Amino acid sequence: MYIIGFESSCDETAVAIVEEREGRLFPVCSRVRTQIPLHRLYGGVVPEIAGRAHIEAISALTAEALGEAKLSPKDLGCVAVTSHPGLIGALLVGVNFAKSFAFANGLPLVEVDHMKAHMAAAYVEMGRAVPKPPFLGLAVSGGHTSLYLAEDYNRYREIGGTRDDAIGEAFDKVGRLLGLPYPAGAEFDSLAARGYARLCGKEGATLADYRRLPPSARSAYPLPSPALRDGSLDFSFSGLKTAAVNLAHTYTQKGEELDREAFAAAYTAVAVEAVATHIDTALATHGGLPLVMAGGVAANSHLRLRMEEVCRAHGRELYVPPLSLCGDNGLMVAAQGWFCYREGQRATTALNASAADF
Ligand code: KG4
Ligand code: ZN
Repeated sequence: MYIIGFESSCDETAVAIVEEREGRLFPVCSRVRTQIPLHRLYGGVVPEIAGRAHIEAISALTAEALGEAKLSPKDLGCVAVTSHPGLIGALLVGVNFAKSFAFANGLPLVEVDHMKAHMAAAYVEMGRAVPKPPFLGLAVSGGHTSLYLAEDYNRYREIGGTRDDAIGEAFDKVGRLLGLPYPAGAEFDSLAARGYARLCGKEGATLADYRRLPPSARSAYPLPSPALRDGSLDFSFSGLKTAAVNLAHTYTQKGEELDREAFAAAYTAVAVEAVATHIDTALATHGGLPLVMAGGVAANSHLRLRMEEVCRAHGRELYVPPLSLCGDNGLMVAAQGWFCYREGQRATTALNASAADF
């Protein structure tokens, strides 16, 4: 069966088709149109512009996806759409388009949770092992740093929530301060890598090498750990972000130049360690479960490496979607849509979008 997935929750319009064969999900085609150049001018996503850009893109992307797949709507078995969480004006474009598409073509419609869809990117068969619930699911994106206990494909229990700024937001905002264009995540990653190489005095040095340095040889920037110590597994990055902003401003006021590589190295190390601390606790608490890490920030090379270390220490498997499926895409929506469909979930013409998490 073919499932088409529509995604418009933030600044990427995406349409993709997966083919389900005996419960396995194979990618057929995937179209993603990013709005980043439109938002870059403002240093972040402008919701009004996002909604308009989704409207301009979604019909053409759908035609392209069907054309590439050499399929017509009547060949499809199900329509899946992200209905929450995200920017409401952006979500409504995908939801309304998917509703019209489904009902005009007499196809069943399912609504998909964006965070579960991020995890579902790991189910898409792309030459690597595919996870099966139950697992611990770590969502790291521009809007979320959340930890779930995925009891089944559709049954998630949040065991660690996003208290304030998400880790992606924390990279983007501090990256902006360092003069990186929006979204700063990927360039921040490279900047930190150069910092580790220089501070360790070795090309290709990693966060692991950096962590082995004596404190005196590490980056001199004093950044506080954002790991909450209140017994919860919640994540909070606004304190770290504010501390970094204040520190950078102090340097500017004193007329001193910030060592951007060393700063990015220190910032990444504390941000990653805050996640590692909670994952270490969660793996110890939930014996035997593997970890699935997904979302835009799952592309971060330092976070991936550290999660590999933590999982290895606990003897657990780590599943991360391929880099191309870490950011928002339609394949992940179609993949999660299959499990909603299989469970008998159906949306009607009354389907609405919601900005909030369910
Ligand atoms: O999942 P996503 O595409 O959108 C949301 O649902 O939010 O995530 C986007 C986020 C942005 O904050 C971006 O800077 C971040 O993912 N990101 C990265 C990297 N690549 C993308 N953050 C850190 N390191 C990266 N390599
Ligand atoms: Zn996302």
